[in-house]
Order: sequence, then structure tokens, then C-alpha cells
Amino acid sequence: MNSEEDLVLYITFLLSPIAISLFCLRTTLPAPMFSRNEFSIWGFLKKCIGMELSKITMPIVFNEPLSFLQRITEYMEHTYLIHKACTRSDSIERMQLVAAFAISAVASQWDRTGKPFNPLLGETFELTRDEEGYRLISEQVSHHPPISAFYSESLNQNFSFHGSIYPKLKFWGKSVEAEPKGTMTLELSKHREAYTWTNPMCCVHNVILGKLWIEQYGTVEIVNHSTGDKCLLNFKPCGMFGKELHRVEGHIQDKSKKKHRVIYGKWTECVYSIEPKVYEANKKAEKKSGGDSKKHKQVKSSTGGDDADEMPDVQETVTMVPGSTLLWRVAPRPPNSTQMYNFTNFAMTLNELEPGMIGVIAPTDCRLRPDIRAMENGDIDTASREKERLEEKQRAARRERAKDEEEWSTRWFQQGNNPYTGAADWIYKGGYFDRRYPHLPDIY
Ligand SMILES: *[C@@H]1O[C@H](CO)[C@@H](O)[C@H](O)[C@H]1NC(C)=O
Ligand SMILES: *[C@@H]1O[C@H](CO)[C@@H](O)[C@H](O)[C@H]1NC(C)=O
Ligand SMILES: *[C@@H]1O[C@H](CO)[C@@H](O)[C@H](O)[C@H]1NC(C)=O
Ligand SMILES: *[C@@H]1O[C@H](CO)[C@@H](O)[C@H](O)[C@H]1NC(C)=O
Repeated sequence: MNSEEDLVLYITFLLSPIAISLFCLRTTLPAPMFSRNEFSIWGFLKKCIGMELSKITMPIVFNEPLSFLQRITEYMEHTYLIHKACTRSDSIERMQLVAAFAISAVASQWDRTGKPFNPLLGETFELTRDEEGYRLISEQVSHHPPISAFYSESLNQNFSFHGSIYPKLKFWGKSVEAEPKGTMTLELSKHREAYTWTNPMCCVHNVILGKLWIEQYGTVEIVNHSTGDKCLLNFKPCGMFGKELHRVEGHIQDKSKKKHRVIYGKWTECVYSIEPKVYEANKKAEKKSGGDSKKHKQVKSSTGGDDADEMPDVQETVTMVPGSTLLWRVAPRPPNSTQMYNFTNFAMTLNELEPGMIGVIAPTDCRLRPDIRAMENGDIDTASREKERLEEKQRAARRERAKDEEEWSTRWFQQGNNPYTGAADWIYKGGYFDRRYPHLPDIY
């Protein structure tokens, strides 16, 4: 072995752009999170009595140091599933991988009860991942109602994935329910295919009292617009005995409603695919033998009463039915995750400001937001002060525009219709990666 040559190769590799992003991705945040226990929720609530819900600003200790624009970028964590789908010639195999991608996209929400920062109007977030072969740009295109638009594409032009998200929040006393309105669209150019779907509902339990926990539920329908084939996925609510917590079950069917594959698993753990016949036979056999006899703790009734809605114990992992194919499995969270807002490895890297980014990313990028940066560094007081300042600056700018009867104009996206579903959507205008940013608003 020629060690000198190796060394030269190694140094060349270190200096290549790919190595720069590979080696610099951090695995932890600069500071652990501020303990919420040190914060008096009662002192805060007393001040809010009689106030309109929309007027209440939640204290920053309930936040996590990411903007909502960065949080939605977490859909990209399992982009390798889309790359894989592109290489499959069988359309059912492609649909399976797209389904796994749609399910895996919500996995990072597990145990993430911190609230991301509301993006300011005009805020952007860029994520370029050369080694994973894609880049993404998002923009906050509306403040009331809050709408975030994003567009991502593979660097080899094999796919684009885009959408707009309008989280509709409902407060139910003990819980907050979020309906992530907006369509996700995935286009696989080589196969001339487009898939669309909407994300499941998300509920955060015990927002006032008790231990916070998250449930995802509802039907997600992935449509292949070339043929009308569908994948129907049911994110199950936790149910009376909590047995169904985190479970997802569904199937892929063609236009004549013939089932081709069953998809099952948990969004917090893994997803399998199997022949429908084998799955049904296994289910029958299980029922005959009395099913699983394990007792499940009943979830406390959520009607009436002042008790918290306890999360059911979930020790059960997904049982693989013989003959299944594993489509996706969640990666373990990093060692410091619990002190770091329960972030995944991917989330840890999102707000990282590498020296090479300054002057390259747009000045509206959320990595440059001083309140999020201060919170990330563990400086809660500065974070809180800066957050107030930015919100006031945003209000002042709105008053100015109102005075001049000036309309806000979005920079990278424009209102339009989804080309496949016809629903109202935000379409990427292009041009961000030319990196000329004239006339960007000064929002920080
Ligand atoms: C975990 O966090 C501590 C500080 O809170 C730090 O010293 C340590 O290096 C971190 N470990 C990893 C694996 O990042
Ligand atoms: C999807 O559309 C393609 C393109 O027309 C078609 O060949 C395929 O059968 C469809 N199937 C599935 C499962 O999506
Ligand atoms: C992180 O997860 C732990 C364990 O489930 C939970 O107790 C804690 O509240 C979570 N923290 C956040 C910030 O969501
Ligand atoms: C898609 O990816 C494959 C393999 O990475 C590549 O050969 C091909 O050129 C890419 N682009 C298109 C448009 O298919």
C-alpha cells in the first residue's frame, strides 16, 4: 500500500465539496434544552384568563429551535426511498416505496412536542444535500392564514417533490389537533408518473396538564395520476385499549379496485409490504388461535373529567407476517436526543450555519433568524426578546404596506392550481438557485 498516495487521496477527498458537507454535518446542538419544569405554567395561564386564544403568545420554552419551514423539510429525511422508487421498473414496487416515503415522512414527529417557530412572511429555507442528490427551497407565502410552500428536486432530474402546507389548528381544551391541509406532489420524470397525497391529522394531547404525547390518524390516499391506481393508508387512532397506537395499515389497488399489496407497520417504527392473500390468511389464523391474549391498558376516557389523557403503554413492536418485505425502518435517535428536543439526526443538522453558507444562502433564510439561533445556543432571554422584536417588525411592515395600499408579493412561489388535482396550490417560479437575490425584504 502506498501510504503517501493514500494521504494525497484522502486530503483531496477532504477538500472536495462532498466531503465538506459529509464531515461538517453536526450530530448535536450547541446547547441542551431549557427545562420546562423550571417554568410556571400556572403563572402564565393566570395572565391569559379571558384572552382570545389567537392573542395568546405561547412562552418560548414550549418551542424548539427550528422554524416550521425547517420542520416540514424533515419530509426529506428518507429521500433514498424516492431514489429507490425511480430505479424500479415495476409500477407496484414504485407505489410501495412512495407509500413508505409518505409514512416515513411523519416519523420524525414522534415525541417532538416542541412547537416550531412560526415563519415570518417572506422567510425562506434552503437545503442542498449533494451527497443525497437533492436540493430544496421553501418560502412562507402567507401569514394569515399561515401557508408554507416548498419545492425539491433531485440533482439528476429524476424526481421533484413539492407542496404547500396550511396547518389548521383546533384547540379542544386538553389537546390541539392539527390538520395539515395542502397537497404533496411527487413526480417521477423517467416514469412520467405523478403521485399526490395529503398528510394525516396530528393531535398533541395534554397541552395544559399531564404528559404531552402525539397521535397521527386519518386516511392518506396516494393517487397515481397516470392510471388512477391508488394506495389507501389508514393511520389508526389509538382506540379504547391503545392497541392501535401508531399503527398504519393499507393496500395498493388498481383502477378496478383489485388489491395488489397490503402495507402495514407503525409510523414510529417500520413498514412492510405483503401479498394480500397471505396477509388475510395470517389474520384468520391469528383470530382462530384467540389472537394475542395480552391485556391492553384502557385509555382513560377523554370526555368530561379534569384528568389528563394518558398515553397508552406501547411496548408492542410490529410483528412481521412471514413472507413480508421490509420497506422502511426508522433510524435510532442520536444519544443526546432527549436533551435536544428529541431531535433526529436529520433535525440536528437543519439549522446548522456552515461558514461556507454565509453570502450564499438568501438573507431571508431561517438559519439567519436571531431568535432561533439564540434558543439553539441556550440563551432563552435573548431568544424571547428577539422573537418579540421580529414579530413587531413584521407588524410594522404590514402597517406600512396597508398605508401605501401595497400588496405583499411572494418571491419564489406563485399561487396556482395543482396540475393533477386542480386544487389551489403554490407553484415554484424557479430561479432561487441562480443565487441572485435582489429586492428581498429585510425581515430580520
Ligand atoms: C452530549 O451533550 C453533551 C453536553 O450536553 C456533550 O458534552 C456531548 O459531547 C454530547 N454527546 C454527543 C454524542 O453528541
Ligand atoms: C401508475 O402509472 C403508470 C404510468 O402510466 C402505470 O404504468 C402504472 O401501472 C401505475 N401503477 C401504480 C401502481 O401506480
Ligand atoms: C422527549 O421524549 C421524552 C420521552 O418520551 C418525553 O418525556 C419528553 O417530553 C419529550 N420532549 C419533548 C421536548 O418533546
Ligand atoms: C436518473 O437516475 C439515473 C441513475 O442514477 C441516471 O442514470 C439518469 O440519467 C437520471 N436521470 C433521468 C432523467 O432519468
